[in-house]
Amino acid sequence: MEMRFVSTGSYLPEQVVDNEFLSQIVDTSDEWISSRTGIRQRRVTIGEGTACMAAKAAAKAIARADIDPMDIDIIIVATMSPDNCLPNTACEVQAEVGAMNAVCFDLSAACSGFVYALNTAYSFIKAGIYKTALVIGSEVLSKMLDWNDRSTCVLFGDGAGAMIVQASETGIFESVLGSDGTRKDALTCASRYIRNPLVSKENTPSGEDTLDYVKMEGQEVFKFVVKTIPLTIQQVIEKAGCTQEDIRYYVLHQANQRILESVAKKLKEPIEKFPMNLDKYGNTSAASIPILLDKMNKKNMLNRGDKIILSGFGGGLTWGTTLIEW
Ligand code: COA
Repeated sequence: MEMRFVSTGSYLPEQVVDNEFLSQIVDTSDEWISSRTGIRQRRVTIGEGTACMAAKAAAKAIARADIDPMDIDIIIVATMSPDNCLPNTACEVQAEVGAMNAVCFDLSAACSGFVYALNTAYSFIKAGIYKTALVIGSEVLSKMLDWNDRSTCVLFGDGAGAMIVQASETGIFESVLGSDGTRKDALTCASRYIRNPLVSKENTPSGEDTLDYVKMEGQEVFKFVVKTIPLTIQQVIEKAGCTQEDIRYYVLHQANQRILESVAKKLKEPIEKFPMNLDKYGNTSAASIPILLDKMNKKNMLNRGDKIILSGFGGGLTWGTTLIEW
């Protein structure tokens, strides 16, 4: 059994935060941010949480697919910024969209999360276990940022993207996924520290009972992506028995324009094959690929039979590249 791509949906919070606004709260400038990253604006939630945005994106994908929510067999939400430790985000989406026959769980793989979630859905479908999956990436990164740290707060944004996929007789789906935990310190954000009657407060890393913020070794991440991602793209194209000429679009995680340009250069591909919207939304981690696909879908850029590369990369370190046929 193969998998077909039925519909997409996305949701972005209304509040726009531009580089000018950030230059009033940290020592930065529109010139620095846009020239180093390509980012000009991002959306920041002032109330809607990860599950709420996920459910809104999902509702749009379900409506466009014209399916009964009761026919959804599985909901996977890729996120590193859930609203709660429990319940999981997918169960909250299930209740909101009325998909009461679905099995629901979250998946955490940072900015590779959506590609990993899509591969998980594919594995269930390929094995004949489920027929219809709702796959979502949703993030509220704004709550994980230190808004006094100019090296990170300018990079990220909030949002959600969703996709309905279904079992199909035909289709192409080839992947190269990988992880390297030895480089886990390149991108971190601690959650709760170990805290119980047997552990004193002094043993928490900061010496107090606070939560942590995103920390990143920017150049380390940059070098890892530019080295790893072109290789995985070439590997996946070869696995699928295709050539680069067959690829209509490279839909990469929207981290940084310079990263995408470097990947394009290494592959000797025109930058026009790398759609981008990071100028408007910044880096939305697991949500960036499904948001971009939804925007492309709405502009009728995706045609049946198009071969598209999806590639996510980020904390862990994790990476995942998948060749799909739309
Ligand atoms: N505004 C102004 N100056 C800034 C700044 C900001 N927002 N952020 C950092 N700087 C400063 C630094 O303090 C440093 O100053 P110094 O030389 O006086 O110490 C200088 O700019 C250079 O910092 P550096 O970190 O070396 O910049 P860079 O050229 O590596 O660019 C990134 C930083 C984050 C844009 C770049 O490393 C990057 O894009 N990395 C990949 C990050 C990414 O996409 N991560 C997510 C992957 S999922």
